[in-house]
Amino acid sequence: MILLNKEQILRGIYDEQLRSQVNLHVLNTIDSTNSFLKSLNTHDYITICSAEQQTNGRGRLGRTWHSPSGENIYLSLRWFTNEPIDRFATLSLVIAISIVEVLKKLDICNNIAIKWPNDIYYKDKKLAGILTEITHHPDNYISIVAGLGININSNFENTNWTSLLNITNKKYDRNIIISELITQIQNDLNRLITSGFDDFLQLWQQYDYLYNKNISVTYFNNIIQGIAAGINSLGELRILDKDKKEIYLKSGEATLSPTRLK
Ligand code: BTN
Repeated sequence: MILLNKEQILRGIYDEQLRSQVNLHVLNTIDSTNSFLKSLNTHDYITICSAEQQTNGRGRLGRTWHSPSGENIYLSLRWFTNEPIDRFATLSLVIAISIVEVLKKLDICNNIAIKWPNDIYYKDKKLAGILTEITHHPDNYISIVAGLGININSNFENTNWTSLLNITNKKYDRNIIISELITQIQNDLNRLITSGFDDFLQLWQQYDYLYNKNISVTYFNNIIQGIAAGINSLGELRILDKDKKEIYLKSGEATLSPTRLK
């Protein structure tokens, strides 16, 4: 087993300016890398935490994130900014794209898809998830914590989950993937701030797991059914219901419906 190594991760960040801006914490065990960064009282532009293990890894919608020691990536990034908060409404969708791009770039895996809003899937099984949390501070500052859980070297055979090990039958050095993720995510964040989400829509279309499928989405207490028809430049899911009426959803949890709508 190759352990996480702070020096190796930093060396793998080829952009010198970015490397010098990063305040990186590599920990053995922590409750949650997101919670750790949220409680940290420093104000660097970008602070990053990765841990071998999380004892209280958190997922979206109050779920827990399975975080065994030494096998997978649990990585959180925190930025302080005074940019308007709506610039970051689609950040977790962008980070989902960043993850797919990194796995392609490193030649690890090609056929990866993104299930709106930000789950990474391989052949109907979940490979990775993202939890983004925003905190407001005085003087119009916000801090954004984006946490990524990516299943790398765990074995998930016979479950609804998957890992790079299960997909490719190989084990991976997480340090290399983390350096690439940091670089890609920072570049994509800069691009989001300067050009907006429109710049990512074409990539989204390439990776859209739900596109043209019959889905049900739980949205607060309603269940909305229809055919998934992409997303708009606000990152909202577009659904065509049985009367071909368009519905746009800001958030929710989509599942595939087994039957065709009449
Ligand atoms: C989800 O799909 O539900 C989101 C999962 C996010 C898990 C990651 S692991 C690193 C970071 N720390 C946490 O406690 N959660 C995120």
